[in-house]
Amino acid sequence: MMNTPESIDLPEFLSARGTIRLPGSKSISNRALLLAALAEGNTEIHGLLESDDTTYMREALCRLGVEMTPLDAGVWRVRGAGGIFPVRRAELFLGNAGTAFRSLTAALALGGGGQRDYLLSGVPRMYERPIGDLVDALRRLGADIAYRGEAGYPPLAIGPAAIRSGGVVRIRGDVSSQFLTGLLLALPLTGAETTVEVVGELISRPYVEITLSMMARFGARVEREGERRFVVPAGCVYRSPGVVRVEGDASSASYFLALGAIGGGPLRVEGVGEDSVQGDVRFADALARMGARITMGPDWIEAGAPTAGKLRGIELDCNAIPDAAMTLATTALFASGPTTLKRIASWRVKETDRLAAMATELRKLGATVEEGEDHLRIRPPAAFVSPLQGIGTYGDHRLAMCFSLASRGVPVRINDPACVSKTFPDYFARFAEVARAVPVIAIDGPSASGKGTIAARVAGELGWHYLDSGAIYRLTALAARRAGVSWDDEAGVARIAAELDAQFDEHSIRLAGEDVGDAIRHEDISAGASRIAALPSVRGALLFRQRLFRRAPGLVADGRDMGSVVFSDAQTKVFLTASVEARARRRHKQLMEKGIAANISLLLLDLCERDLRDSQRGAAPLKQSEGGYRLDTTNLSIGETVAQVLTWSRMAG
Ligand code: DC
Repeated sequence: MMNTPESIDLPEFLSARGTIRLPGSKSISNRALLLAALAEGNTEIHGLLESDDTTYMREALCRLGVEMTPLDAGVWRVRGAGGIFPVRRAELFLGNAGTAFRSLTAALALGGGGQRDYLLSGVPRMYERPIGDLVDALRRLGADIAYRGEAGYPPLAIGPAAIRSGGVVRIRGDVSSQFLTGLLLALPLTGAETTVEVVGELISRPYVEITLSMMARFGARVEREGERRFVVPAGCVYRSPGVVRVEGDASSASYFLALGAIGGGPLRVEGVGEDSVQGDVRFADALARMGARITMGPDWIEAGAPTAGKLRGIELDCNAIPDAAMTLATTALFASGPTTLKRIASWRVKETDRLAAMATELRKLGATVEEGEDHLRIRPPAAFVSPLQGIGTYGDHRLAMCFSLASRGVPVRINDPACVSKTFPDYFARFAEVARAVPVIAIDGPSASGKGTIAARVAGELGWHYLDSGAIYRLTALAARRAGVSWDDEAGVARIAAELDAQFDEHSIRLAGEDVGDAIRHEDISAGASRIAALPSVRGALLFRQRLFRRAPGLVADGRDMGSVVFSDAQTKVFLTASVEARARRRHKQLMEKGIAANISLLLLDLCERDLRDSQRGAAPLKQSEGGYRLDTTNLSIGETVAQVLTWSRMAG
């Protein structure tokens, strides 16, 4: 796993197993915070999710005058405000947190007292996410809500109002279940009996179940009349139950369960199970239908690969598990046959248009995708491809997490990985704990230390892939020369590096279709390679290209920074060296064998110069990486050296 703020490179992984303790549920955390803030009495919330969305909710409640004290990791004490927020005038920024935005809108619009003046804002995407149906329902109850931007969308201004209490209020249920949730959470604040009628279909129903069960925990029992009528009784007041324990997040669990299913497993998630109130635990049933081995306890679920054969593609109505269903879309990459996810239109109004985004990014990996108005049909790729520009995440945490699964098939670069902080800040670190990456033997050393010969032989012995990273620098130098770009022009060469039209494998090296295996070995191209290799943006542009060589069952890579930068997590790191005289003699012999005239003392001088440049440059200078082995081959044969490297690699396991 290799990190920059712009992207994270995930190596292909061979298997996945272990145990993950889940972060707290976002849905439960934000409901618990709001209910505790509105209740009478103090509440201790245990296992609260600490992420962007819950931070927006917490900070908004603090601004509204609710006192909150952290007691321990994930433990907060909330001093209940008893139905009326102390601060009656506030501006609240809620990012892209839909749960916080919808439920606070309702609570602030209906909450106690006449005087109020609130402005609710968020990120630009929040202003594209509909809220009109909720606002209409609240207005019918007497609320004063004004659109500050486009009608039907945030930002919103909430003013003083005399709430008309009681009666029947209707709300649409087919755009977002958060409208109904917001309304239900706020209605006890009016004190009157109110009946809510859902108009049209109610989507994402399990989220409403979470709402009702949390309200009941705080003493407000909503009566149901059939599927779509909810009666909030008169005089129902929120009272703190004292302590609330937040379950693990069932949507976050989906990534690890899928990981177990595609990576062998067993992979166990702790924090959700049979007793969960979250609908997304039903994701496990969908995985089971695909053939995964699933076992469950009260608060854990375990997933593993099918006992025989591959996962199977399925057709599924995803209405009840809209978030976890996204995980099925990338799990489908590893199934035999196509997978069809139906009734997922709500994806279009989430953090991004998830339907379009998912289709676009799946296609980049080589999948064939049919994108309908409210369905997606995914045919796995015949062969995985990994886009050099990375997988786009559109600021959507779930896209980032879903596409981590693709690294079962190919190394993947995920752009803007920090977007996972919306619900799962340390996701990628946890992922790396359970996914076993393709092993790498990194062999670094100075020019003519024999690392190329050794690396290729070791790769041959193990049946692993081989990467000659120097050849990539040479290719870039050659391509720059051919394009008329000076080797000193850092931006120009970096662009060449990024766009390099190279087909490069163990057996042949082609530039724009032409075999350049010999051309890149010329002395002037060697000198050019050494010069452009000193340019940091050129090195950056070539990074992911090199990482793409890390494919199952393993990779032996040689160069200058294999162990220190490119594969810093390599299992085995070797620094090969030999006296400069020995290296000059070897290079001389090599050239003579190729029928190229050469002079030993000139070669010696040239090597000294290159050693100096490679070791003194600022960007990834040649040096032995920490924790690696050093091997001086001056007096060793090739066979002895290969044997030594193989021994070390076996010791790494
Ligand atoms: O290993 P080689 O001689 O083919 O490498 C050509 C040039 O590329 C050399 O001057 C150092 C540079 N290089 C590098 O900076 N980093 C690597 N990983 C490999 C080569």
